[in-house]
Amino acid sequence: MYLDENPGVAIGSLWADKGLTIQGKDNERLGYPTQKPLALMERIIKASSNPGDTVLDPFCGCGTTAYAAESLGRKWIGIDISRFSTGLVQRRIVDNFGYLNRDDIAIHGTPENPAQARDLAQADKFEFEKWVCGAMGANGMYKNPGERGADGGVDGVVELPVIRQVGSKFESQTEYVIIQVKGGNVAPDSVKALSETVRRLGAVAGVMVCFRDQMGTVENQRSKELWSDAYQQYPVIQGFSIEQMLADERPNLPPTWGYKHGGKTSAPQLL
Ligand SMILES: C[S@@+](CC[C@H](N)C(=O)[O-])C[C@H]1O[C@@H](n2cnc3c(N)ncnc32)[C@H](O)[C@@H]1O
Repeated sequence: MYLDENPGVAIGSLWADKGLTIQGKDNERLGYPTQKPLALMERIIKASSNPGDTVLDPFCGCGTTAYAAESLGRKWIGIDISRFSTGLVQRRIVDNFGYLNRDDIAIHGTPENPAQARDLAQADKFEFEKWVCGAMGANGMYKNPGERGADGGVDGVVELPVIRQVGSKFESQTEYVIIQVKGGNVAPDSVKALSETVRRLGAVAGVMVCFRDQMGTVENQRSKELWSDAYQQYPVIQGFSIEQMLADERPNLPPTWGYKHGGKTSAPQLL
């Protein structure tokens, strides 16, 4: 067989085939502004490595390379300067590859205890927010990662499948939970403002993530309203401490919130 006798055009340096675009593939989008299409990363990995090899992406973003490498039987390492990325990549892989759980994916360089978390909060407020949002499973930052400035009371948004009963059937509806992060003192007004933000954006709930010593203020100031899925009621506004997050505890959200140990974000077993 001779190459020049084969039909078609040899692949060039500009790849614009339809299959390589992320446009329209809403189920692939994670809200990460520079996310690359999975098909593109798969092509690169297949062309340049074999199963069992290790793939390194030193600017891994939301982990498309890691995802493609995992699905093609490669080992992988991702590096990113943003602490939002680390939690997001871990969650993306764990949620999509049922044989893995959070402990299988080691993260280096993020806080492992409350003292380190306080150090990060003091050293870089925005990186602290990003780290929390990534660890809480926010699908996207409300702003672009790294963008500074007023956030309108929203640091991250969690997309949550909620099981509701519609007539005699159960169906999964997509709802949103607002994440607000405070690395220092929680002002009473900011707890009240979170209720307003949740209402304004049509979210079902808001979680104020702060250190344990601020949880009293959240508890005293929060609205006691409830919302419900098909099974039970949950607080519209709640506090969740950094200490709880580091201990892998769960906020009071439906089980479809898959943060703990790789629980899937979809819930077909309930349907
Ligand atoms: C274009 S994005 C990568 C997107 C990725 N391909 C995906 O599909 O999600 C580039 C990433 O590089 C990260 N980055 C920028 N400067 C960096 C640095 N000096 N070291 C490590 N990561 C860095 C950014 O935080 C960003 O997530």
